[in-house]
Amino acid sequence: MKGHKPRPGRGCGYALPLPIAVLMCSAFFFLGYYVSLSNNQEIVVENDVNRINRQKLLENGEGVLAEYGVTGDDKLNIIPFQVLSWKPRALLFPGFANKLQCETIIALAKTRLSPSGLALRKGESVDATKDVRTSSGTFLSSSQDKTGTLRWVEERMAKATMIPKEHGEAFNVLRYEIGQKYNSHYDVFNPAEYGPQKSQRMASFLLYLSDVEEGGETMFPFENYQNMNIGYDYKQCMGLRVKPKQGDALLFYSMFPNGTFDAAALHGSCPVASGEKWVATKWIRDSMDR
Ligand SMILES: *[C@@H]1O[C@H](CO)[C@@H](O)[C@H](O)[C@H]1NC(C)=O
Repeated sequence: MKGHKPRPGRGCGYALPLPIAVLMCSAFFFLGYYVSLSNNQEIVVENDVNRINRQKLLENGEGVLAEYGVTGDDKLNIIPFQVLSWKPRALLFPGFANKLQCETIIALAKTRLSPSGLALRKGESVDATKDVRTSSGTFLSSSQDKTGTLRWVEERMAKATMIPKEHGEAFNVLRYEIGQKYNSHYDVFNPAEYGPQKSQRMASFLLYLSDVEEGGETMFPFENYQNMNIGYDYKQCMGLRVKPKQGDALLFYSMFPNGTFDAAALHGSCPVASGEKWVATKWIRDSMDR
């Protein structure tokens, strides 16, 4: 400091002595620095609050996270999913519906069950194919359900798939008892085998309404295009197997985005070995024409 002492009487009123200029300059620099720092801190704090709020919304599914359009939703839907396969495109939605909702649908269907039917290929007979699908079932549309449960499932499903609910057929609620099954099949109707079609079942949605003690898995024997050249027996339970769990939903696509059939979408229901299997199926069409 000794060498930097300002000399008295010099530069007064005209020019600032160098050390004072340096000092003032530094003071302004640091002042600016702190002002900008405190502004940043305010922004950081605000972002933290937003992030925490957003996290809370994500966790409890209430509130709005974004601007939404006239036909959009005024709240967040939380629908967790796991991709089970890309070949075919199959998704599991764990806990899609709750226990009460599942039981409500079972109660609704229980009194209306009759042996499940089969779409026949040209030349096939009911008698010759009666062992292919042995479950009982009933078709239920959401308008038949005064509790609103089927409507709720339908709307949630439309959200999860982004395919309007008008593309869905009525629910086919099925019960499989011990030994009952559905041999592997495709949900699409090949016009070469079934004749001309107005539309196709492009995707299938299965809501498991019950747990099954043993067996009753939904199987995809050709998953990843495996087992296609082994002379696969359509009764055999193999490949990817999805174990039914009450409330879980399974969605898979029978067609590629370009509209051609996916051979890997072959699927069936393994025989129930113990317990009972209840499932609500909805086929989603590629057009609203049937
Ligand atoms: C349709 O898409 C599939 C899968 O990507 C592809 O293998 C097939 O060649 C496509 N077919 C046509 C006609 O484009």
